[in-house]
Order: sequence, then C-alpha cells, then structure tokens
Amino acid sequence: MKRRRPGLFLSPEQCPQAGRERMVMPQPIAMTGSQEENPERPMMRRSIQGEAVFMMGQNPALPVMPERPTLLDFFHQRFSDLAFMHLLQSAKIALDAGQEEKVVMACLLHDISNGALLRTDHGYWGAQMIAPYVSEEISWAVRHHQALRYFPDEAVGYAYPEAYLAFFGPDYQPSEYLKRDHERARNHRWYMTSRLITLYDTYSFQDDWDVDPDQFTDLIGRHFRQPEEGLGFDNSPVAHMWRTMIWPNNFL
Ligand SMILES: [Fe+2]
Ligand SMILES: [Fe+2]
Repeated sequence: MKRRRPGLFLSPEQCPQAGRERMVMPQPIAMTGSQEENPERPMMRRSIQGEAVFMMGQNPALPVMPERPTLLDFFHQRFSDLAFMHLLQSAKIALDAGQEEKVVMACLLHDISNGALLRTDHGYWGAQMIAPYVSEEISWAVRHHQALRYFPDEAVGYAYPEAYLAFFGPDYQPSEYLKRDHERARNHRWYMTSRLITLYDTYSFQDDWDVDPDQFTDLIGRHFRQPEEGLGFDNSPVAHMWRTMIWPNNFL
C-alpha cells in the first residue's frame, strides 16, 4: 500500500480520557450471531467499578482525521487495505477502458460501505452514504450493483463471479429482495451504469498493483460535492455515517 498517506497518531496522553484505560465495546451487529461471548456485561461492570472507561473521541490507535475530512481522507486514514486497493483499481480499469466519468466515479465509490462501516447490504448503505454528494444516477448505480453482481449478463460479458462460488458455496441462492431489485434494475434507464460497476468489480483484487488515488482528485471535484464543513459535519441526513467512521469506537 505504497500509495497510502502515512497517518498522524497522537499519544494516549494527547487523546481524551488520558490516564485511564479505554475499553472498546464491539458493535452489537458484530456480536449478534457470533460464537464469541458478548463482553457487554463484564465491560459495564468494569466501568461502574471505576476500573476503566469506554472509549469516547480520538482513539490513539487510529490516525487523526483532519478537521474537515474529504472523501480521500477516508480512503487514506480509515478504509481497510482491501477496500482502498479494490476501489482504486476498479475505478482505474473503468478509466482505462474509456468509460464516462460518471461510471469511473461510481466504480470508485461502489464498495465504500465496506471501507470502514458495514459489509452487510453494502450497496444500499453505500448509496445512502453518498446520496447527498453525487448525482442520483451514481447513487442508484452503487445501490443496485450489489444485486446485479449475482446475475450474469452475457451481452456485456459479465458472468457469475468465480469468487462467489468460493465465498458462498456453489448452491447459494440470492434472497428474494435481490432477485426483485435485479429485475427492477434491468429495466431501468440507468441499468448500464450499475452493470458496468459489476464488470470492473470482478478484476480488481490485484495485490501487486498500486493505483495512485491522486489521479482521481479532479474527477472527484467534478462528481462529488465535497461539503465545506467536511464529511461528517455538514448536518446532512448522512453526516452521522461519516462521523461513525471518524470515531468508530465511540461507546455511544
Ligand atoms: Fe460490492
Ligand atoms: Fe467491489
């Protein structure tokens, strides 16, 4: 990940709650259905007994985000290595294929929810996260790429992903809502924008290929309305989603 900007870290003493042990409570959704024991009760007990506090604010283990974070700040400082690489690679492949800028932008954003928020139903979450900042078409395409991934379209050369056979097992059947949303998307005027995301999705997990994020700066400038206050602080209906990625370990 040579292209990732190095993060700026603060010492535990420079962060809020200095001098105390900070506990990170796992998110409920990460515990539901898990085999691991839920640490909720023992951690609550420790806090009540004054042994430790729950993390609130800057986690010393995470790089500091700028006061007014931009889209690329989230790429560099918060997204997992895999999401960082995958989003940049799929946008680059679309760019090199000569696709329109809206398609390149949609590719750059398509798995943004997997970056540092939620995997489950990521197309739907991702579309919501970006809706105030991109065209309706780009957000629509991101929303529907999730369903379209399960259904081949020979006409554009898109086959069911090999990886999905391994991920879910060969007998996996997509849920009814995905079948329904795929059907709807097929007949929509923006179908191809979403379908192209799935096409460039398949090839973009190459460990030995570093794509420079800076080459997308101008494109982002044209297709992503960066709020002046920074993502997370613009009082938009989705600002809390971006704040959750800035402070993912906040107890409440
Ligand atoms: Fe995806
Ligand atoms: Fe993807």
